[in-house]
Amino acid sequence: MPTQSVQIPLDVSELPDRWYNILPDLPEPLPPPTDPETGPSRVAQLPNLLIRTCLEQEFSDQRWIAIPEAVRQLYLRAGRPRPLFRALALEQALNTPARLYYKAEFYSPTGSHKVNTALPQAWYARELGFERLTTETGAGQWGTALAYAAALTGLKCTVYWVRAAYRWKAARLGFMQMLGAEVHASPSDRTECGRRLHALDPEHPGSLGIAISEGLEDAQHDPKADYTLGSVLNHVLMHQTIIGLETQLQFAKVDDYPDVIISCLGGGSNFGGFALPFMGERLTKGRTIRFIAAQSQAAPNLQGEYRYDHADHAEITPLLKMYTLGHRAHLAPIKGDGLRYHGCSPILSLLRHKGLIDTVAYPADERHVFERTQTFLRTEGFLPAPESAYSVCCAMDEAERCRETGEAKVIAFNISGHGFMDMDGYKEVLGFGAAEHHHEKAANVLGI
Ligand SMILES: Cc1ncc(COP(=O)(O)O)c(C=O)c1O
Repeated sequence: MPTQSVQIPLDVSELPDRWYNILPDLPEPLPPPTDPETGPSRVAQLPNLLIRTCLEQEFSDQRWIAIPEAVRQLYLRAGRPRPLFRALALEQALNTPARLYYKAEFYSPTGSHKVNTALPQAWYARELGFERLTTETGAGQWGTALAYAAALTGLKCTVYWVRAAYRWKAARLGFMQMLGAEVHASPSDRTECGRRLHALDPEHPGSLGIAISEGLEDAQHDPKADYTLGSVLNHVLMHQTIIGLETQLQFAKVDDYPDVIISCLGGGSNFGGFALPFMGERLTKGRTIRFIAAQSQAAPNLQGEYRYDHADHAEITPLLKMYTLGHRAHLAPIKGDGLRYHGCSPILSLLRHKGLIDTVAYPADERHVFERTQTFLRTEGFLPAPESAYSVCCAMDEAERCRETGEAKVIAFNISGHGFMDMDGYKEVLGFGAAEHHHEKAANVLGI
């Protein structure tokens, strides 16, 4: 019988000291990055694009990679280890026989899991003598995490922020600026790629693919700057495995084990970080676990084609073998804009191709997802980020299915971030606030 405990903490001394690299355990070798038939070699450019240590990790065949002590210290400063919660109140509200557990990545100084890779990337860049980091951001969570990591390691930081989200997240913009970052709405007029699109439409909503091109182009022109990517690549997912490794220790403490692992998926970093250590146990120890990636119909990249494609709009990156909707596909903005990316990480794409990851894509109006999240907020008391809301929704849907079938499944989901700076998005979709606003207006008219 599992121990019934609402919060399953880990002691500071239990913080893992190594990341898990799934590459040697994959069912077949990961297809390597390649070049398009025309133009200069992008693969040959990789050492100039990525931090050297990260590039080594990208192709490492070592199953375990030591976390440098300085990075472990940074993890401790960022509040790791993070608790795992048993969602007893939610289980009761759903009247489900399932046992629900969620990992609290929202307990992060910047609001999400993104610090888990921002900190090592910034630290490695600093060790190699770089002075500035450039990057893209969608939801703004990755940009904030990198701004934070840059501040803590003494680096400058330039962020290209997808305009659709930049427009409505004033608090997050202020947060990044307060941390010392220079932030530009993307497409911007600071890069060739940005200028081309900006000239066509100054109000262009942008995309992660465009913002990645801008971050890369900026760094290419400054030898003191290095580009850092917040998702998709192998080393990013590996840094994020700290989430799943902690979760495994926590499940052992309560003598339980997940039947289903769920998380939201944009480029794949939080899903990979949470799921890959468990996937490793499925692949090497024969554990039966089902994996579900929660996505939006606005960008259901796992339902795209499995083929080679660029990771960015301007085709600066090599071709990666991945599920993709096409690197220049127009994808309409949503409030969970961090999920709006055309491609899925090559590792997760291969696993999906092998039938090891299922996916669900929720309607782009986000109503069902946000209503579910409101129930979560009112029972468990935490406000997830709009992206993480997809995790919550998928776990709740799965728990309801268990009610119908009577199965007492163990469902584990990751809440990748908090939504304290995303209230305008929730308000717009759920429509609350408007009534009070009208009420206030009416009261003003009546002179009350
Ligand atoms: C809170 C949060 N969760 C999830 C994501 C999706 O990205 P990834 O698939 O890399 O985890 C984002 C992206 O911005 C995010 O901000």
